[in-house]
Amino acid sequence: EERIAAIRALPKVELHLHIEGAAPPGFIRGLAQEKSLRLDGVFAPDGSYAYTDFVHFLQIYEAATSALRSPEDYARLTTAVLEESAANGVIYSECFLSPDFCGGGDLGAWREYLHAIREAADAAERSMGVTLRGIVTCIRHFGPERAKPVALCAAETAGDWIVGFGMGGDENKGRQKDFAYSFDMAREAGLRLTTHAGEWRGPGEVADAVNDLRVERIGHGVRAAEDLALVDRLAEDGVVLEVCPGSNVTLGVYPKLGAHPIDKLRERGVKVTVSTDDPPFFHTSMADEYEALAKTFGWDEEVFDEIARTSVEAAFCDADTKAALL
Ligand code: ADE
Ligand code: ZN
Repeated sequence: EERIAAIRALPKVELHLHIEGAAPPGFIRGLAQEKSLRLDGVFAPDGSYAYTDFVHFLQIYEAATSALRSPEDYARLTTAVLEESAANGVIYSECFLSPDFCGGGDLGAWREYLHAIREAADAAERSMGVTLRGIVTCIRHFGPERAKPVALCAAETAGDWIVGFGMGGDENKGRQKDFAYSFDMAREAGLRLTTHAGEWRGPGEVADAVNDLRVERIGHGVRAAEDLALVDRLAEDGVVLEVCPGSNVTLGVYPKLGAHPIDKLRERGVKVTVSTDDPPFFHTSMADEYEALAKTFGWDEEVFDEIARTSVEAAFCDADTKAALL
């Protein structure tokens, strides 16, 4: 239908994308073959990623990521990811980068990975018109001690390209406040902050993220919808949710998109944005997300326009970069 084609084609801003999670399975299989690595259990017979639940997803994610072993591998990955973004009408993207996977938290190694990623991103911007910025991320289930060298990597490379610091991983391990030292270090280096919360745990976790880490954006945050007083506080404080509807449905946070709170949150005044999280793992893309939201909630171009403006406003890049997007 014409209306849906127009919505798929809209220019898009994506704020929540894990670079390793955006690696197509064929890309990872190719790397493994080149290096003669065995990636047992990572792929289903049809070639897609195979996992059963969220904890297993994280294990498969890390196993697939183990095929990425050099700055050159990450440069090739960056190019592949941005080709897909551009094909989906994405004009600006912020992706999570993990020093844990890029040099094991060593600053010198991290600088080499970052240099390779940036070169690939700059080339993609020239050839495909999609702008990328990085958010350094620590991984919650690796624990607060491993987050400290990651925060140091973030602080030492903070600037016009590394624009934020964040945390992903298993929300059922530890507490947000265990990571306050690392988030404080990143904030003092001038980085903007986001953390995954309210994906697997309820509204209390979202409140912890805001109170204990003082983040201005939240990865997912959707389960805040279970506490209307908290929803109103998020709206009032202008906290931005990086909502990944397809991810939530595929991982079973909600049984179907119709049961997802994104539209209720938006209607109650919360700043919501739309992202894919780990698109090949969830068999999704930015155009697919837009189409599904249009069909399920009747979102029209006006709603997507509001989402785009919210996303640009909430982006962590500088004002000149934003101005070029509008
Ligand atoms: N890392 C990659 N995807 C994630 C997700 N959906 N939740 C937490 N950590 C992640
Ligand atoms: Zn995520």
